[in-house]
Amino acid sequence: MSGVNEIRSTFLDYFAKHGHEVVPSSPLVPRNDPTLMFTNAGMVQFKNVFTGVEKRPYQRAATAQKCVRAGGKHNDLDNVGYTARHHTFFEMLGNFSFGDYFKPLAIELAWNLVTKEFGLSPEKLLVTVYADDEDAATLWRKIAGFSDDRIIRIGTSDNFWQMGDTGPCGPCSEIFIDQGPELWGGPPGSPEEDGDRFLEFWNLVFMQYEQIEPGNRVGLPRPSIDTGMGLERMAGILQGVKSNYDTDLFRSLIDAVAHQVGRAPEGKQTASYRVIADHLRASSFLVADGVLPSNEGRGYVLRRIMRRAMRHAQLLGSRDPMMYRLVPTLVREMGQAYPELVRAESLIAETLRLEETRFRRTLERGLSILDAETRDLSEGQSLSGETAFTLYDTYGFPLDLTQDALKSRGIAVDTDGFTAAMQRQRAAARAAWSGSGEAATETLWYGLRERTGATEFLGYDTEGAEAVVTALVRGGAEVEAIRAGEEGLLVVTQTPFYAESGGQVGDTGTITGPGLKVRVTATEKKLGDLFVHHVAVEEGSLTLDQPVELKVDHGRRSAIRSNHSATHLLHEALRQVLGDHVAQKGSLVAPERLRFDISHPKPIEAEELARVEEIANRVLLQNEPVVTKLMAVDDAIASGARALFGEKYGEEVRVVSMGQDAADDGRARTFSVELCGGTHVGRTGDIGVVTILGDSAVGAGVRRIEAMTGDAARRHLAGESRQLAAIAALLKAPVAEAPERLAALLDERRRMERELSDARRKLAMGGGTGGATDDGVREVAGTKLMARVVQGVEMRDLKSLADEGKKRLGSGIVAIVGVAPDGKAGLVVGVTEDLTGRFDAVALVRSGSERLGGKGGGGRRDMAQAGGPDGAAAEAALEAITAAVGAA
Ligand code: ALA
Repeated sequence: MSGVNEIRSTFLDYFAKHGHEVVPSSPLVPRNDPTLMFTNAGMVQFKNVFTGVEKRPYQRAATAQKCVRAGGKHNDLDNVGYTARHHTFFEMLGNFSFGDYFKPLAIELAWNLVTKEFGLSPEKLLVTVYADDEDAATLWRKIAGFSDDRIIRIGTSDNFWQMGDTGPCGPCSEIFIDQGPELWGGPPGSPEEDGDRFLEFWNLVFMQYEQIEPGNRVGLPRPSIDTGMGLERMAGILQGVKSNYDTDLFRSLIDAVAHQVGRAPEGKQTASYRVIADHLRASSFLVADGVLPSNEGRGYVLRRIMRRAMRHAQLLGSRDPMMYRLVPTLVREMGQAYPELVRAESLIAETLRLEETRFRRTLERGLSILDAETRDLSEGQSLSGETAFTLYDTYGFPLDLTQDALKSRGIAVDTDGFTAAMQRQRAAARAAWSGSGEAATETLWYGLRERTGATEFLGYDTEGAEAVVTALVRGGAEVEAIRAGEEGLLVVTQTPFYAESGGQVGDTGTITGPGLKVRVTATEKKLGDLFVHHVAVEEGSLTLDQPVELKVDHGRRSAIRSNHSATHLLHEALRQVLGDHVAQKGSLVAPERLRFDISHPKPIEAEELARVEEIANRVLLQNEPVVTKLMAVDDAIASGARALFGEKYGEEVRVVSMGQDAADDGRARTFSVELCGGTHVGRTGDIGVVTILGDSAVGAGVRRIEAMTGDAARRHLAGESRQLAAIAALLKAPVAEAPERLAALLDERRRMERELSDARRKLAMGGGTGGATDDGVREVAGTKLMARVVQGVEMRDLKSLADEGKKRLGSGIVAIVGVAPDGKAGLVVGVTEDLTGRFDAVALVRSGSERLGGKGGGGRRDMAQAGGPDGAAAEAALEAITAAVGAA
């Protein structure tokens, strides 16, 4: 029973038997919590169920949850490979009670599972409880028969579990196993607790509170249970091995690595095998859930994980990309439990191969620079931040990869120096924008932004506002005024105009004042928060400090809003239909249409697109309000999401939710939750209708969907149905029968074409009488030669004419010149098999093609073809061939 796959199913079956709903793992990119970088515990998908915001049709659940702890708050990346227990990707087994059972049953279920089902010996087990949790201590005494020395009280945060700075939380009780005195280490709470001897493998959290904000904790509606058991740890215990990397699943992965590098893992190099095996899992599962390597956010964490593994592959002597060759082993080991791996297998392999190919181009040069720079450093010294930055900037070495490369030699990296070098580079880039025209304008914004401050954007709530002009720019320089007939750029104190970002195009509209009329033709953002309006002054003058009235083009903005909200609906619908690997790879939200790129390895079937459209429209018709929540970026960062936001989202993070899930599993959950700075409809019904125009490829593993909404969609569909009606009228059939009718017509046409071509051939060969005397056959030096000129036969049919001729002759030579309507000629010569020793069709065809003004010709000894511009010389060509036959 001790294989990883069996342990997982024993756990789930056990809790199913005790009334728990077995719920699939949620994706690694949390759907219900856009502030969290990756799903890092089993309870993440149930966060809102604990607080009572979300209802599910069950009160007990069990899961095997994919988790990643790399980047953000829980970051184990640096330790992976060097310890027995750390992983970037791991599976957490958990059972949950949503206001159903509490401590007594939670402890009893856990105790029976580990001692009876898993058969761990009770004498080896001990537990911790939160210092003042008398209930838990009493229960352990009663249920497990533990004496007080096996119930260790811990008063620190170690025994109070919190997902982040906010959210459900509570005291916890952890179960440990004593792995025996041959390992170093002491019980929890002792100075030696970090040793390997006492191993924690299951955390039972007694969820009782919700942390609303720091310092403000309220009780949950009903006490609940959240537990987490490390599957890899349990496998290590049950398989009697001291390292997770020695369990069956990791052995298979490490064997696959060994097979690739042609060497078994030994000594110091063992860490490299472990790093590769661990990072292969993290990388593959992240790609399966839609993350692709990039230079920001989640994509950058993935890139760091991949590149770290790739450097270790190189350390093991692998010369070519190898990570992608490991994917089949991973899919074999884990694909049954996680079918998304099977679905995304080709995307995963392709992504790894591309990334490794790219990285290898610079890896060796980077490493030799690193070697040279550190040759004279000894343990305890540091590499300069400047060099680490060069490696990052020029050779694609993430900082942690450089740190990892130097770790074994005890050399650190000057991270402050690294940050300083990065800032210097940014400043230099800024300074380099000098000169004239566009480039000069770019430098100008820094000074301008310092003077005016950020523009306040009012456009989420209003399409019109008053503001004061703070800057005017023309021809790359600041000016005092922009006059009638002139164009320029305008900055104001506040604006309802949305500036192009996040795929949504900028607003257009008008600006007015006494005697002033201005058209706004575009709006863009500079330096993240300075809104720049492109203006054309039609009447009056725009001057500094002047109060003006700004008005967004309402119709255009409404269409943009519809398209943006529809993008969110389509995104979720695509995920539901195609799988969790679908993630947004770019989008364009314009008034006329929307464009949406997703990660998906193959074309989307028409039937899948139809289902996506169906789901999106069904949610649209619920006509629920679109809800936007604001969170301070600091709060989002505190919950571990720093890299996710970059500079893109400004000071506050907007979280946009819409629709109820239309899935038929009976759960009420929000259909779509996204981080988004764009503008949206009030209710989903405002979108009107969404229609998908089609899908196309835009790169490896990326598909593009285009769609329309609202009035544009209605007009598009009306246009299509008018065209359809016109087609039906031509076909003299009702629209419903038109496809069938058209198919029949096309069949008929193909049949007629065949008949026509047959008839032409027959005509050309003498009306099909076969025995006709004048079919151009004569004897030349004892060889039968059929030499003919034909008109009205397609060039591509000449060969089959020659074949027919050969059949008719039995033994002989056929030469046919076909003259096309434009006067050009094609020539075919066929020689029956018995004569190919004496005659070569290629040579014969050449002698003929010269006369036709053609060059050469080609084929085989029994059949050759040529052409030429001069059809009038057809007879002469045949004569030349006749002469050549006679001379042979
Ligand atoms: N949520 C708890 C943990 O992650 C079980 O440890």
